Amino acid sequence: ANKLGIKKERTLAILKPDVVTKIGDFLELIYSSNLIVTKAKMSCLTCNQAADFYAEHQSKPFFNNLVQYVSSGPLVAMELMGTDAVSAWRRLLGPTDSPTRRESPQNVRSQMGAEGIKNVGHGSDSLAAAARELEFFFPSTVGLGPGNTARCTDC
Ligand code: PPS
Repeated sequence: ANKLGIKKERTLAILKPDVVTKIGDFLELIYSSNLIVTKAKMSCLTCNQAADFYAEHQSKPFFNNLVQYVSSGPLVAMELMGTDAVSAWRRLLGPTDSPTRRESPQNVRSQMGAEGIKNVGHGSDSLAAAARELEFFFPSTVGLGPGNTARCTDC
């Protein structure tokens, strides 16, 4: 927190492949929510890079689907900064399954999600995750990128 008690955080936001062409809408939403974009990158993940990024979900039944989806086309990764950025961005996105439930028109996922898996975006779920995920997309050590620890078994 700064001396006024305001807690500025950084978080990683991803716009998944279906919505990269709507980046303008997202930038407006981000800035009107008092968050700012401090880093941004359009990038295509290989299957193994996506598997590394989502390694914590390796044992979940949806792991391969998730990995295939996020490596299916370009995505936009952004570092967002602002007060309570971690929870603020996740609040804007809404619950993971919002595209299917469509019960909360106030969130981005229920408005823009195509179906369950195509749920628009990702947001770090904690400060620790944000630090790790920001390092993944914006490595502070020049020359080192994503490693290859987790493996997608489908591609
Ligand atoms: S869990 O089990 O509670 O940890 O899962 P959850 O936090 O809801 O989701 C973790 C990420 O997996 C994605 N997800 C899915 N992808 C494909 N198919 C299915 N069925 C599925 N269920 C969950 C979900 O969108 C999360 O990814 P991100 O990128 O963080 O949204």
